[in-house]
Amino acid sequence: MKINFINKIDAKTKTLVFPLSLKQKMQDELKNFDEQNDKIISKAMALYKFTGKNGQIVQTFLPKKDILIVLAGVGVEKNADAACYQNLGSSVFDFMQKIENKEVSIFSLSKDAALNIAFGISLREYNFDKYISKENEQEDENSLQIKEKAFYICTEDPKSAEDEFIILDAKAQGMNIAKAFINEPGNVINPKTFAEEIKKLEKLGLKVEIIDAKKLQKLGANLILNVGKASETPPCMAIIKWQGDKSIKDYKIALAGKGITYDAGGLCLKPREGQLHMFYDMAGAGAVCGTMAALALAKDKHNVAAIVGLAENAISSNAMRVGDIIKSLSGKTVEIINTDAEGRLVLADIITYIQNEYKPEILIDVATLTGAMTYVLGAEYAGLFSNDENLAEKLYNTGFACGDKVWNLPLCDEYDKMIKSDVADVKNLGGAEAASATAAQFIKRFVKDNVKWAHIDIAGVAWSKSENLKSRKGATGFGLKLLFDFITTK
Ligand code: BES
Ligand code: ZN
Ligand code: ZN
Repeated sequence: MKINFINKIDAKTKTLVFPLSLKQKMQDELKNFDEQNDKIISKAMALYKFTGKNGQIVQTFLPKKDILIVLAGVGVEKNADAACYQNLGSSVFDFMQKIENKEVSIFSLSKDAALNIAFGISLREYNFDKYISKENEQEDENSLQIKEKAFYICTEDPKSAEDEFIILDAKAQGMNIAKAFINEPGNVINPKTFAEEIKKLEKLGLKVEIIDAKKLQKLGANLILNVGKASETPPCMAIIKWQGDKSIKDYKIALAGKGITYDAGGLCLKPREGQLHMFYDMAGAGAVCGTMAALALAKDKHNVAAIVGLAENAISSNAMRVGDIIKSLSGKTVEIINTDAEGRLVLADIITYIQNEYKPEILIDVATLTGAMTYVLGAEYAGLFSNDENLAEKLYNTGFACGDKVWNLPLCDEYDKMIKSDVADVKNLGGAEAASATAAQFIKRFVKDNVKWAHIDIAGVAWSKSENLKSRKGATGFGLKLLFDFITTK
């Protein structure tokens, strides 16, 4: 698949796309076209009731010229944001997949619109269908065909659009890497195979260090060890570093991701419906790895240190029990109230490690931490908890602009009291009330005082149950755009 920016439609292109917003009059190019061709476009618009709704596609054919005209809905013009144009890109991609023509030219409104349409097209290319046997040659051919398609996007200054697209393309590739990790089931991605895949990211210029179970034992990272000890595949941590500015040794920004490759719940076994798709419990780690890959591909100038904690929360006679008291890497002791509240345990050890080793000023963790998030914010917003107002505001604004939206939720002493233990320094569950906040409060216990920290709970947004223009079914890659834009615009 090729994406090119041009400033004039090539007469040879046989598919032309006109983005149109809600109730907007036709652009001059389209009006002229319409006048010269028996008003075929106005007629098609009326016939198909084309309103310009975001994602709407209407097509008509000019037999004399052998040209296919496609009207693509932008939505309400004044509200048309990055996401609207990305959706439009997705719908054009889907359309091109269904037709024979290999080339398409897209009329565009501005450079920003052109870039986001291109970004939407790139993101749509990823499809997790590798395990579906192709039943006939035609199906095989269809999936090959998309590789030969070329998208030409019109914009006033194609050279500068091309330059800027390098960054968006890096983001799209990072997103594909994240989704590819997250969509793999638990029998394919386990702590060992995940670590091997992360190690392969070194070819992009990242530095990767794997801390295996033996080393975790030496360190005293007993929380992650206990979460993973019932699994045949031992837990590990992966440190991923991007040094964009070689003149500076420090890593001011650190990322941390929950990487539970399958969450059965441990001895507090999840009911069967709760186990469905629980291999995406490493979506935080997936988003963090994808972000690091994107930073390397974009050759970004910042230094970022990331850590992911990889473990499988399984069940066996050797599993962590309810009531166990475990000493964390930080030295704090934790009473286990529920073995299914394992993500916070892994996060506690990995954020302790990254803070001790790299002394970051800013620490952002991303995790599918609490099912309660689904009830609070649904699939629209991720939950944000932070000890720093400015950091929270910046993440909110960045998320709004890129489409990975986060909503700031409260931390307070009362929530902290709910995780007070009678027998240890802290317990891993605060009860059913304010479950997402007490989970955040647990992580906060392991954040050093001088560190600006944000916790993003993506349990409700990491997985899409339905196919839509924003995402295919399955992994959404949520968090990558947010982290990448936050870091690169700092
Ligand atoms: N991985 C789950 C959270 C989750 C649930 C993510 C649904 C995505 C979708 C987490 O480890 C967990 O099991 N949390 C429990 C905690 C409970 C035992 C108090 C939850 O939120 O139900
Ligand atoms: Zn769990
Ligand atoms: Zn979990």
